[in-house]
Amino acid sequence: MNMATSVHADTGLTGRTWQADMIAPDVDAGRGTQQCFVTASFVVPEGGARPALFISALGLYRAFINGRRVGQDLLTPGWTCYDNRIAYQCYDLSDLVVEGDNRIEIWLGDGWYRSQVMWEHQKILNCWGDRIAAIAEVVDGDAVLLKTDDRWKSGLLPVTASGIYYGEDYDARLEHAAETGAVEVLPFDTEKLVAHETFPVRALESNAPVEKWQDSEGRFIYDFGQNAGGYVRFTVSGERGASVYIDHAEVLGPHKAFDNRNYRSARAATHYILKGEGEETYAPVFSFTGFRYARIAVDGKAEIVAVEQVPISSIADVKGGFECGEPAVNRLVLNTVWSQRANFIEVPTDCPQRDERLGWTGDAQVFAGTACWLGDCQTFLQKYLRDVMHDQRENGAVPHFSPDPTRLHRDIFPGDWAGSTGWGDAIVMIPWQLYLHYGDRSVLEACFPAMQRWLDYLWSISDGPIIHPHSVWGETGFTFGDWLQPVGDNRKPRPTIADDCAATLYHFISTQLTARIAGILGEDEVEKGLSARCEEIRAAFVHEYFSPAGRLAHNDQTSYALAFLYDLVPEEHFDAAKAYFRRVIEDAGYLIGTGFIGTPALLPALTKLGMNDLAEKVFLNREVPGWLYQVEQGATTIWERWDAIGPDGTIYDPDMNSYNHYAYGAVCQWLFEDVAGVHPSADGPGFSQVRLDPAILPALGQVKMWHDTRAGRLSANWRISGGRVIYTVMLPEGIRAVLPVGGRKKLEINGKPCLTEQEEIALNSGRHEIGFDLSGG
Ligand code: BGC
Repeated sequence: MNMATSVHADTGLTGRTWQADMIAPDVDAGRGTQQCFVTASFVVPEGGARPALFISALGLYRAFINGRRVGQDLLTPGWTCYDNRIAYQCYDLSDLVVEGDNRIEIWLGDGWYRSQVMWEHQKILNCWGDRIAAIAEVVDGDAVLLKTDDRWKSGLLPVTASGIYYGEDYDARLEHAAETGAVEVLPFDTEKLVAHETFPVRALESNAPVEKWQDSEGRFIYDFGQNAGGYVRFTVSGERGASVYIDHAEVLGPHKAFDNRNYRSARAATHYILKGEGEETYAPVFSFTGFRYARIAVDGKAEIVAVEQVPISSIADVKGGFECGEPAVNRLVLNTVWSQRANFIEVPTDCPQRDERLGWTGDAQVFAGTACWLGDCQTFLQKYLRDVMHDQRENGAVPHFSPDPTRLHRDIFPGDWAGSTGWGDAIVMIPWQLYLHYGDRSVLEACFPAMQRWLDYLWSISDGPIIHPHSVWGETGFTFGDWLQPVGDNRKPRPTIADDCAATLYHFISTQLTARIAGILGEDEVEKGLSARCEEIRAAFVHEYFSPAGRLAHNDQTSYALAFLYDLVPEEHFDAAKAYFRRVIEDAGYLIGTGFIGTPALLPALTKLGMNDLAEKVFLNREVPGWLYQVEQGATTIWERWDAIGPDGTIYDPDMNSYNHYAYGAVCQWLFEDVAGVHPSADGPGFSQVRLDPAILPALGQVKMWHDTRAGRLSANWRISGGRVIYTVMLPEGIRAVLPVGGRKKLEINGKPCLTEQEEIALNSGRHEIGFDLSGG
């Protein structure tokens, strides 16, 4: 089998030698018009041939052999920076072909390649090109049974329009159209084609409607009970020419009003015209959206027979769970799982529903740790990092999102959509999480040059340790600061962090971490240089932002949280700053005062300081802003904004209000690492060693956590009985642990009192029961 593949020296990605051409259907009228197919016949020799199909496309494709679908992957070939590389897939055709004549049909859709990307007023059309095309080879051993070339034919599909934001229109009366057209061979460098780098996008278990009702216009609204990324599959029966129109929503307004204003210019709908031949079942081929509700309007004589929500994701399997005695917290964790599923579809996106759905780096970096606890994200995030590095600018600025359409369309996006602290730091933070979770040094090596270019860019913004960001979006050095940091009552706003302070905090964080990574990679000179730069930033930060009394300049929750979490608070100010931190939270009535970059640091900083009481109060607060407020409001995914829906049910400003943004779900990393107490460690990357250090929050009752590591399932549970904490951990073979002794009273391990003077105790794999007093625990 001509399966011969080769590994690209620079990327380590798998490629192969192609004989086929990239062929474009000449019946294609361009973006947003009737979609097309290319087709050809081929002969499979007698005697046990096991043909395989290698295939890719410009745009999206779905392949059929003798009318039967090839594989179950969705949205193939996937989404990458298409100007850098395009994925190909390989399928075994043994069960689809017959000896003798066979026919292949490759359906093509606009996809991310040329359908609208970016929002209405700056939409980009034909982002990566204006011709959809396919490349394919059917091989059997070394024999090429078929390859795309200028002898193929083309025709029009019943898909009369499709787009990622747009949704899909399908006219079943146009099925089985003849191949009336030819194809054109496009100039294409097959070196760009790489084997798909991660799990395919697949359909997950479907959700049936939990409720159905009719609105005043006679349309049926279905509630699937779960907000998800995916599509509606339905069965309809009726007259030829009758039609079904389905649009989607995440929330209902007052009086159960169907409200999808927050989708903005994304039509996100399906229009299906019946052929009138009994029951017809349909699901979109080239599009998806985010939704909990579907509204179905039937035009003409037809009846909906069945409807289901089909969630899709690149991360199908859940690899970690956290449960405690507080049901709302358990729901919050489940909401985070669903937000990850809906936003890990080829690329880690901000949201799955509106005219955005972009690989925002800030969101991905704060969520990376949680993502790895909940799913196997090694290859998924590595793929993303390749896009981020491809989109990195000459000056080292890392993009706001990747794949980055703006980089190729500066006419529509003048200025530069790159270089924001907190966002660009993804190039340091995500590789680090992959190293901790999977022990994969190669991701550090691959990203190290890009990290250093990012740090040089940061230093260059203000030519020094303190970063003074530009205030204009698109200008070099612009930062999002602590995006969406709540101010409370805007008549008496609570303190928020200034951009320069937020930027300088991340300047320190990324410089410190890259120095550490340099050490791990044996880059001693770089490590020395960056460590010195790190100390310079530390000294400048303390000088610039600490008052002599130990108060941080902006006296807000984000400043203290990040400064304490990353050890930027000098000893002489430690106790005073800690008191200020406590005061700022008490003054806010234990309400959250952090945005996208402060929120992942708030609770870890509090439990690190032993202020578990505060962490408990803030975490379990049911008022807005709060994690549990949205659960109480019926959320089934994580909201973009703390105040997305008011206590009276008012829908907040739909212009930027997604109900499926995983950024604030980053709190789950704290649940796994601090509350359940299992910290991945650079001393044993890839879970070869963990640090066990649970922060006991009595209000949670008891805690159960599990996680499937490469070495097997790890679990850690704690419960409280008679003023004692019983902490039980299961470490699979190959995982050892260290347990810090510090402060634990009457510590017992497996029933034996622990009388050691040591700072920490080593535990081998196996089951361990650890006991200690709650007070001081
Ligand atoms: C996106 C966020 C992103 C933010 C940064 C929003 O539009 O949805 O995910 O982090 O912009 O500005």
